[in-house]
Amino acid sequence: MPSVSRFPEPQAVTAPLTEYAVFLVVALQDGPAATDTARTTLADVDALVRSVGFRSLHAGLTCVVGIGSDAWDRFGAPTRPAHLHPFVPIEGYRHDAPRTEGDLLFHIRASRHDMCFELERLILGRLGDAVRVVDDTPGFRYFDARDLLGFVDGTENPVGDELGEAAYIDSEPDFLGGSYVITQRYTHDLSAWSSISTEEQERIIGRTKADDVELDDAVMPTNSHVTLNTVVDEDGNELDIVRFNMAFGSYAAGEVGTYFIGYAKSPETTELMLQRMFVGDPPGNYDRILDFSTATSGCLFFVPSSATLEMLGDLPSAAVASAAPGEVTTSVPAPDLPSDGSLRVGNLRGDHD
Ligand code: HEM
Repeated sequence: MPSVSRFPEPQAVTAPLTEYAVFLVVALQDGPAATDTARTTLADVDALVRSVGFRSLHAGLTCVVGIGSDAWDRFGAPTRPAHLHPFVPIEGYRHDAPRTEGDLLFHIRASRHDMCFELERLILGRLGDAVRVVDDTPGFRYFDARDLLGFVDGTENPVGDELGEAAYIDSEPDFLGGSYVITQRYTHDLSAWSSISTEEQERIIGRTKADDVELDDAVMPTNSHVTLNTVVDEDGNELDIVRFNMAFGSYAAGEVGTYFIGYAKSPETTELMLQRMFVGDPPGNYDRILDFSTATSGCLFFVPSSATLEMLGDLPSAAVASAAPGEVTTSVPAPDLPSDGSLRVGNLRGDHD
């Protein structure tokens, strides 16, 4: 496996946990003009992050861009990430994981809300009427990184080298340094949750509430959240994902919850976890977190490396590609792409040094 340090520059997937985040999901409008506006805006997102981020370097502003399966096809790139597909909805034993609309994800993070707010303004301004916003959820960090169920959330995320190894694609030569991300917005029934004892809540999660220690094997239920989300490959190696869940909502509006976001080098790991949570292992032995939490969205995106994201700006214009022979278009003409049909990925493969 190539070492992660030899990958092309990834997006800031593994940036440290921040106090604030915005989860912005948009749908592309029909037509080649919308496709071109989106594609060229994405290629410029790094520059927008610099414009806002430079105004407070300590705020740690980052933005990770994800691209849905249909949008990727509309951009007309010559190659396709192997595991990019629409989110697979799940009809669970008692609770369902729905698929919802979403062509582009902007996962904006910073230690200041105003930085996220400003970057979102610039991104939406550039996208203009090329998109329709389908989800705009501001998230915040709650006390000791707890979710609104009161449990510390994120403890068992991989750290050190294992972080990049879990998050970044290492086996698709054209997309090294990319990632896949699954997002789900969960709303909580906090009055039902607070009506059960702390001990029962701990058995549902699989960790103690006050000091965040994993339950002993002897008392760990087979359907705890921790057990169902501990998955291994055929050789018994544990498979990790990288999570940056955030609390969101408003008591006044009557809706509070957890925004789940999980990055991985292959979506199959997260999909397996979802199967185990919703269907159960064995079927019926499902995750009881779902008795108190309803998934209201579900999307899957490919997260290109920074270099691939920038490269999208150089792809042929969709307006030119869709024009009838002889038809005059006002769009920029298609640039010359290499005759091998590649995304000029030679310099993305990390094999240049
Ligand atoms: C662990 C909360 C959804 C995957 C945890 C923990 C909490 C938690 C409190 C224990 C501390 C930690 O290690 O982070 C929640 C809440 C969710 C949610 C409130 C939504 C309502 C999901 C989903 C997935 C997932 C949808 C995957 C598809 C995991 C994994 C762990 C974990 C992999 C670590 C297991 C381990 O190795 O110990 N979650 N989670 N979670 N969760 Fe979730």
